[in-house]
Amino acid sequence: MSVNKEIKKVTTHTLQRMKQHGEKISMITAYDFSFAKIFDAAGIDVILVGDSASNVMAGHETTLPITLDQMIYHAASAIRGVNRCLVVVDMPFGSYQSNSKEALVSAFRIMKETGAHAIKLEGGEEVLESVKRIIAAGVPVMGHLGLTPQSIYKFGTYNVRAKEEAEADKLRKDAKLLEEAGCFAIVLEKIPATLAKEVSESLHIPTIGIGAGKFCDGQVLVMHDMLGINTEFKPRFLRQYLNLNELATNSVKQYINDVKSNDFPSEHEQY
Ligand code: KIV
Repeated sequence: MSVNKEIKKVTTHTLQRMKQHGEKISMITAYDFSFAKIFDAAGIDVILVGDSASNVMAGHETTLPITLDQMIYHAASAIRGVNRCLVVVDMPFGSYQSNSKEALVSAFRIMKETGAHAIKLEGGEEVLESVKRIIAAGVPVMGHLGLTPQSIYKFGTYNVRAKEEAEADKLRKDAKLLEEAGCFAIVLEKIPATLAKEVSESLHIPTIGIGAGKFCDGQVLVMHDMLGINTEFKPRFLRQYLNLNELATNSVKQYINDVKSNDFPSEHEQY
């Protein structure tokens, strides 16, 4: 029997047990009640209320503009659709980088105002003091290394990270520091599969990959990408499971025709 099927509610400890049993962790983003409800009922292990909401929900080019209040709105909506899975909320850009006190206050707001189970923040050594302080206050923290979109203007591109040895070495060290600080999992974004394998094998806590290959302990995808809502984004790591954009477009076209031709509503669709 899989660890996942035995349990009524997924916790951070469930994820650790899944790693120990070699059972992969499934994670997907969601930003609202309805989709969170579908994904939870489908059996997903973790929902990430990602700051990718800035891109896919608000239409911004980067994740930088989304505010803490907006993240709290999305997370509080998503959590109302969930019975079983673990819900992790991204701390948005500017809500934790200044100092560890500000980070703690932001984490408290997320936990108190959304009912979520954990937070995620980007970075390693630079944010370690904040990570330790948040965990000491009882809030589970997921790390995020590799391509960290909140630093896009520092990197300059969304290309694969840590291909050079110096950056790979920093990532190895950051992963260890985050584990020692008490993080329950780490997202590895867009790094070579060999490095993700090495890091995953060196840690006791699970790694969740996006564009980091098959040896991570779990995988995460942005729902708009994997459901084909956003069809312009086609990176090599993405598997698109549905073309919801086409289905929705055709359905709305049909509805428009039905309204214009007076076919809708019929006698059975009125009172
Ligand atoms: O915001 C997000 O969706 C993320 C995932 C890409 C891991 O951080």
